[in-house]
Amino acid sequence: MCLSKRPLLFVVCLSFLTTLLLNSALASKDKEVYYPDLSKVKKILIKRGYSKVAIKCIECHAKKTPGIVEDWKSSRMAHAGVSCYDCHVVPKSSPMASQCEGMRGTNIYTSPVVTPKTCGRCHPTEVKQFEQSGHAKLASAPIVEKEKFIKLCYYLEGGQFAGVPEGSKMSLAPRQTGCQMCHGCVVKLGPDKRPVDGWPGGIGTRYPDGSVGNCDVCHNRHAFRISEARKPEACGKCHLGPDHPDIEIYYESSHGQRFLTEGEHWKWDSAPDTWEPGDYSAPTCATCHMSGIGKLSPTHNISERLKWDLVHPKSVIRSGLRGDGVKGRQLMKEVCINCHSKFFVDTQFAKLDKTVELYNFYETNAKKMLTTLKAKGLLKKDTWSDPIQELYYYLWHHCGRRIRHGAAMDGPDYAHWHGFFQLFQMYKDMQAIYNYRMKHNKIEELSPVMSTGPL
Ligand code: HEC
Ligand code: HEC
Ligand code: HEC
Ligand code: HEC
Ligand code: HEC
Ligand code: HEC
Ligand code: HEC
Ligand code: HEC
Repeated sequence: MCLSKRPLLFVVCLSFLTTLLLNSALASKDKEVYYPDLSKVKKILIKRGYSKVAIKCIECHAKKTPGIVEDWKSSRMAHAGVSCYDCHVVPKSSPMASQCEGMRGTNIYTSPVVTPKTCGRCHPTEVKQFEQSGHAKLASAPIVEKEKFIKLCYYLEGGQFAGVPEGSKMSLAPRQTGCQMCHGCVVKLGPDKRPVDGWPGGIGTRYPDGSVGNCDVCHNRHAFRISEARKPEACGKCHLGPDHPDIEIYYESSHGQRFLTEGEHWKWDSAPDTWEPGDYSAPTCATCHMSGIGKLSPTHNISERLKWDLVHPKSVIRSGLRGDGVKGRQLMKEVCINCHSKFFVDTQFAKLDKTVELYNFYETNAKKMLTTLKAKGLLKKDTWSDPIQELYYYLWHHCGRRIRHGAAMDGPDYAHWHGFFQLFQMYKDMQAIYNYRMKHNKIEELSPVMSTGPL
């Protein structure tokens, strides 16, 4: 790359100029036609070239971290002249202002941490929608806000059972390698203002400048491609496993079947709001939850098109911070009717609503058993040494979610074999324990418990 030979700054208003020229040519033919002055409607100004400092960053990093520079070069932002400088240089007053090895002793401050606030300078709409979604504050809340969960992390990972000292460095490892890599956490800075914990983190990462979210989990740095974010694998890093197997469900759905057999021929990089059926023949996660399709515009608020809360013990229609469930259902239907008849779509959603009703029925009764036992002093204090409580956890947290997500997204194996079938096994075991405790008015002495839950 020989950037220093490029003209430093030349300004083209290519599309704008062409439009103007075209307009005046047309206008002279037909004086009646009125062409608005575009400069009053929208300012289109393309600046080419980089400042001297920006070129320094690129040239030195092309030697020191060639992988990053190569990746960035292929990005649409590089094509538009957005460089390292635009994202990594911060004012001296920023809480994150440090200096990279190549910049020490200059008056330029950099940070490895790039927050949504930085992206928001040029992409305010995406950032605003993202902030209102379940992917922002709500996502990191369990890890950072609730004392209960911080204790729970230590506890769930077995620290307390094995006698790992609470609060010790090693006790944090499970949170740091697990929960916070998906959910996000608070970024803590060291004395040199570089991050020491929580970075890089999950989707709801909370930064020292007050902003929330991690944009590059879906369109990875430094290519930042929409084509990548539109593929199901962008979501599959987090939406998988026994408690929310969304990527597995997708792969077994009819939609996933199409994606797996012909997806490599689909057109993935159409401009936002022009990516429509024809570019693809079946939807991906992004199509249903985020992209513009038919009448719908793209959104970074993944909670917007949902009716139910399918993640907590009992499913309720969304309201408040979790969105508007009634409107959510209408919006999701708008997605489907681009490829299916209204009748077909209504039938699918009626199935989902029935499933939620049945699941809620089981959950209510299972919970009732616990409430009754608790009132009689027949529950152990420690959830994880008490079979009936452990079974209840797996009933809603694993099976219950698999049922509901499987039914919502056409995953019959998860709705049934990993879902209702296993729920029935757990329910039956819970009932047996419940009956024993009620009959003998005591907790069974031996609890040779390993529930069937995790399977
Ligand atoms: C569009 C914004 C953007 C541009 C342009 C950009 N970066 Fe980044 N960079 C990021 C983001 C986002 C991260 C991840 C930071 C985070 O999660 O807080 C990052 C992380 C990094 C890191 C730390 C992570 C690692 O792998 O070591 C380095 C180093 C880095 N960028 C160098 C560069 C260089 C060099 C350039 C120019 C060739 C560049 N960046 C251009 C946004 C950008
Ligand atoms: C003369 C070479 C040189 C120049 C110029 C340079 N860097 Fe660096 N930069 C480095 C080296 C070397 C590292 C350390 C890489 C490592 O840790 O292995 C680094 C690290 C970084 C990091 C990672 C975080 C950190 O502080 O270590 C970022 C972000 C970064 N540079 C951005 C920039 C930006 C933005 C510019 C331009 C304003 C720039 N660099 C200019 C050599 C340079
Ligand atoms: C200085 C302005 C600027 C900043 C800062 C910036 N961007 Fe961009 N971004 C652009 C421009 C300009 C484009 C190109 C628009 C286009 O091609 O449609 C773009 C395009 C994109 C695209 C679409 C890429 C594609 O494949 O079509 C994504 C995704 C993106 N930016 C994400 C980010 C993220 C994430 C950040 C913060 C880490 C960020 N941007 C920071 C200006 C910026
Ligand atoms: C592999 C990524 C991943 C890991 C690791 C992970 N989670 Fe989650 N978690 C998710 C996803 C994805 C959801 C959302 C599922 C949904 O909406 O259906 C979720 C949902 C939740 C919820 C319910 C939503 C809410 O905000 O109330 C809680 C609570 C939660 N996780 C806590 C944790 C804790 C605590 C840990 C670590 C002990 C953890 N998670 C580890 C990905 C993960
Ligand atoms: C959950 C995954 C995900 C996260 C996180 C995410 N995006 Fe996106 N982003 C997408 C998808 C999918 C698209 C393409 C939507 C479509 O099909 O039009 C997209 C498109 C974009 C575009 C292109 C829109 C345009 O008009 O050119 C920009 C810019 C962008 N995202 C910025 C951001 C920023 C900034 C953040 C962080 C606040 C962010 N994204 C976080 C999935 C994500
Ligand atoms: C880095 C991890 C990560 C990635 C990548 C990710 N998500 Fe999530 N997602 C989460 C977590 C964590 C939650 C749970 C939020 C909470 O606690 O309420 C979540 C929740 C959701 C929800 C439910 C939101 C709500 O309001 O309850 C939907 C829908 C969703 N994600 C869709 C997607 C889609 C579609 C993609 C890909 C385009 C994606 N996610 C990528 C981590 C991720
Ligand atoms: C055909 C459209 C479609 C596709 C494709 C799709 N989903 Fe969904 N998704 C839905 C519907 C419909 C619901 C349930 C909406 C409701 O609440 O009524 C849902 C629910 C969810 C939820 C549960 C939110 C909660 O309440 O906890 C998550 C998480 C989710 N989807 C993530 C994904 C991920 C990740 C992918 C890709 C691997 C994906 N979805 C693919 C349509 C889709
Ligand atoms: C981009 C087009 C497209 C969109 C949007 C779309 N689908 Fe599909 N869907 C398909 C294709 C293609 C198939 C496989 C062929 C078929 O069964 O019609 C399919 C199959 C299905 C099947 C399996 C049918 C069977 O015969 O087993 C269900 C269920 C389904 N879709 C539901 C939905 C729902 C619900 C939505 C909206 C949330 C939706 N689809 C959105 C294209 C789409």
